[in-house]
This record gives sequence, structure tokens and C-alpha cells, in this order.
Amino acid sequence: MLDALKTELLESIAAAGDLAALEDVRVAALGKKGRITTLMKALGGLDAETRKERGAALNVVKDEVAEAIEVRRAALRDVALAVRLDSERIDVTLPVRPESQGTIHPISQTMDELVAIFAEMGFVVADGPDIEGDFYNFTALNMPPEHPARQMHDTFYLPPAANGETRVLRTHTSPVQIRTMLTQKPPIRIIAPGRTYRSDYDMTHTPMFHQVEALVVDETTHMGHLRGCISDFCRAFFDVDDLPVRFRPSFFPFTEPSAEVDIGCARKGGELKLGNYGDWLEILGCGMVHPRVLEMSGIDPTRYQGFAFGMGIERIAMLKYGIPDLRTFFEADLRWLKHYGFVPLDIPNVAHGAGA
Ligand code: PHE
Repeated sequence: MLDALKTELLESIAAAGDLAALEDVRVAALGKKGRITTLMKALGGLDAETRKERGAALNVVKDEVAEAIEVRRAALRDVALAVRLDSERIDVTLPVRPESQGTIHPISQTMDELVAIFAEMGFVVADGPDIEGDFYNFTALNMPPEHPARQMHDTFYLPPAANGETRVLRTHTSPVQIRTMLTQKPPIRIIAPGRTYRSDYDMTHTPMFHQVEALVVDETTHMGHLRGCISDFCRAFFDVDDLPVRFRPSFFPFTEPSAEVDIGCARKGGELKLGNYGDWLEILGCGMVHPRVLEMSGIDPTRYQGFAFGMGIERIAMLKYGIPDLRTFFEADLRWLKHYGFVPLDIPNVAHGAGA
């Protein structure tokens, strides 16, 4: 009788087609009301001698059945895994789907291009917060409270920080110069692309816009390095080998001497062309880091000197890609994004004219 039960149970274990069916077989045999369990319970009513014999035989069957269930379970698990691996197979050698929908925004693209060009020149990327302390945005840049240059910035002021410090939305990326010099020792060579804010809105101004800051500090850094670096950048970025680059004396409180940089262009019938055509277009501000700025940033101005420049990213993107209206950058118009956006896999690198 026990043999018949064992054979029957082993057969149903072998016949269980999946883990759920196997579990049903287990419950029917070994569960609380399972057949083997019931026989075990019945042992109590037998005399001692028969109980011993039957008990031993039942235990053997019980162990054999439990073992068979475990073996079958492992086999069914392997099958389930194989089925799943098969159904979820991905052929990584297939080409990328061509019908990609999203595009890279021209600002992101331009930032990637800037980073590619400056990385090649040995610069590393630095950043700072959009909400900036008055000290970093103005004071340490040689604009103490009441300095007239502060008025030129149309600053958004925020409620003061817990320690009473005046906070602003940074009006330029120049505070990253201070943060970098306070935390790094020369030689320093960084660029810092990021968002900037000024309370202004018209054809050529949006309250949020982007700049890229560059800072180089070393013992022998001079104005020649500044000129070479900026000229090389302009020619690489706009992909015009003989692009004229002109330095005009200017003023910034945090650089001395200061200059504004123009590139050569032609304006004909509302169209703008870059190159050696006799006309000029301003694209950035620069200069040698003011000794007082070095000093306030913990760098010895008798030993080190540096240059810095700051450039509007929208402006150079508009020039390079022929985008006529600044405000359209931030309207999130899908048609505009499709038209001016970039293919995500077209990663800028210098060999490509950084995306030209
Ligand atoms: N921060 C200046 C601006 O926003 C640009 C600048 C940066 C000029 C670094 C000189 C040196 O206009």
C-alpha cells in the first residue's frame, strides 16, 4: 500500500509541468492535510510495535518524496530561467534605431562643444551655485557694497541667508573664479559653463541666460596667453581658420587690464557672415585677474597672475547656428526644437570642428 502511494506521488511530481503545479503536488502529499501527513497522524492509534515499523517505512517514503520535489523544483526553475532569458534576449549588435525623437537643445550642444575645445587645451570643468552670496558675486570681484558697477547688473535679490548674508541669483559666472581660487592651488585652468540671471527682457535679453567663464592662474601667465587662448578658441568654435579676432580696451572691476573681444564679420541685407570682411562683432569680455581679486581669493598676487574671460552662450550659439531670436531658446516650442536641435548621438569633438 505504501509502495503504491510512493509510485503515484513520484509520478505526479515528474508530471508537474511548472512550479505552481509542483507546489500543488507538495501540498497534497506533505501539507497539513496531505496524504503522507495524514498517515503520520494515524500512527498514534497503532500499538507500539506496528507504530515503530510503519513509522520507519513512512519516514523513508516521506524523505524520498520531499527529495524528489526538490530535484524537480530545481529543474523547473532552470527551465523557467531559460525561457525568460530567451524571451528577453537583446541583440546588442543591431544598429541604433534611426527614428530618435528627442533632440539636444542648442544650448546644451554649444556647452558640450565649448567643453570639448577647452578640454583639448587642458582646462577642467568647474561649477558653482545659481544662488550665490553677495561676497562671491560682487565683493570678492572687487565690487564692494555701493560700487557703481553693481548697478549695471540688474540683480535679482533673494531674502538674506540665515547668517544674514545677502543672496542673489548670480548675475555672471565670474563668482566661480573666486570659488575655484579659494579651494585650489595654482596652476589653475578651469572653465565654468552655467546659468546666469539678470532682470531684463527684450529681443536680446532674457532673465535667465548662460555664460561660460574661463580662469587661468599660474606664475608666468600673461596677456599673450589670454590672446592666444581666445583666438584659438574662436577659430575652433566657429570653424573659420582665418577668423579675425580683435582685442579692444575695456573695463571690468575684476580685471586689469580689461578688454572686449570682437570677431570679424559681414552684415549684408540683414544676414551675418563670420570671417575677414572688415566689420566687427563683440563676443566676450576678458582681462588679467585684478591683483585685489587674487588677494581676496587667497592667492599671492606677487607670485601669481592670471587671466579670465566670460562669454554669453546664447550669443555664440545664435551666431554659429543662425538662430535669429534669443527668446525662442526658452519657449520650449517643439517645432523650434526639432529644427534647431541636434541628434543625440552626434557628440561634439574637436576633430569634427566640435560639432560644426
Ligand atoms: N563677468 C563679465 C560679464 O558678465 C565677463 C567677464 C568675465 C569679463 C571675466 C572679464 C573677465 O560681463
